[in-house]
Amino acid sequence: MILGILGGGQLGRMLALAAAPLGVRVRVWDPDARCSASCAAEIFARPLDAAHVADFAAGLTACTYEFEHIPHAVVEGLEHAGVPLRPGEAAFAAKHDRLREKELLTSLGIPTAPFAAVDDAAGAHAAAQRLGLPLVFKSRRGGYDGKGQAVVREAGALATSLAACGGRDVLAEAFIRFEREVSLVAVRGLDGSFAAWPLVENLHRDGILRRTLAPAAGAAALQAQAEAHMRSLMQHLGYVGVLAIEFFQVGGALMVNEFAPRVHNSGHWSIEGSEASQFENHVRAVCGLPLGSTALRGHSVMFNYLGREAVRAAVLAVPDAHLHTYAKGERPRRKLGHITVRCDSAAARDAVLAQLEPLAPWE
Ligand SMILES: Nc1ncnc2c1ncn2[C@@H]1O[C@H](COP(=O)(O)OP(=O)(O)OP(=O)(O)O)[C@@H](O)[C@H]1O
Ligand SMILES: [Mg+2]
Repeated sequence: MILGILGGGQLGRMLALAAAPLGVRVRVWDPDARCSASCAAEIFARPLDAAHVADFAAGLTACTYEFEHIPHAVVEGLEHAGVPLRPGEAAFAAKHDRLREKELLTSLGIPTAPFAAVDDAAGAHAAAQRLGLPLVFKSRRGGYDGKGQAVVREAGALATSLAACGGRDVLAEAFIRFEREVSLVAVRGLDGSFAAWPLVENLHRDGILRRTLAPAAGAAALQAQAEAHMRSLMQHLGYVGVLAIEFFQVGGALMVNEFAPRVHNSGHWSIEGSEASQFENHVRAVCGLPLGSTALRGHSVMFNYLGREAVRAAVLAVPDAHLHTYAKGERPRRKLGHITVRCDSAAARDAVLAQLEPLAPWE
């Protein structure tokens, strides 16, 4: 069985590492032969365009991806070669435009921050009238890790913030004063079977995920609500694989920030912290295999590190710490790896937190 993966970054790498023990070989399509996934996969090092699809697709059982911007011609090429793409196009097409994503969620009755489309100065003022200040501008296409976003706190800053987000094709959202951010990661099998991990708590710094606590304390009462939104989204999309939903918690209610049709940074802790990780379960699902257990193994925390490689010997000297470098070059703000600590109790985990945080660079 050979699984194709579009993209050989850290998600492709961790998928490939999880596939190996299942006897699933992996072929990654990434223009860089020395990409992060190259430690565990055969790399198909060609530009991602339709001319090469037939060669990439030869002999694949199924194909999945680590990013959402997949050219339609590549989707068609895979179809022509008879290789199923999982999750299907409906899942990532909805992510090409943040406005369409919000509209889809609204049509399913899933609560989001109030929003409006903005294309010029008049639209920006109208949005501020309707949504109030502060508000958040997000470019509708192409943003990630908080890029292409601006928080507008006063009317005088509307024009410059709009320009900073591209001037048009912008989504305005009410600024939500949430108590905390949580996310749900879940998996749906080819046969419609479903499993979810418990809600986890996410802390962002500079618009980028800094750490995830698994499970989120006191979130059991929110789990059913989160799973109901997850199931209706998965059903609508005919979803196969792992899907993540980021929520804002406001009182006892959840509001969706966004979803990600793939394995997600807030699920990395599951490599050590769950019976079957999000990566293993994604591989199982897209290959049509039975799902693994999402039961917790104790309490975990995951830290991302940016810009500079962590000092390996220092991290490994911390009891219960697990290092995951992505073997990528150092560059300011670039996610280079993560560190997970798994303990039997929340108290033991929290005792390691302060010790671990300085070992996770943020540059
Ligand atoms: N409407 C909002 N109100 C308050 N905070 C917000 C709002 N939208 C986004 N944020 C904050 O900014 C963070 C990043 O926003 P969002 O998830 O939309 O961006 P992103 O670029 O897709 O990030 P990533 O790719 O890392 O998930 C959120 O996790 C949250 O902390
Ligand atoms: Mg996000």
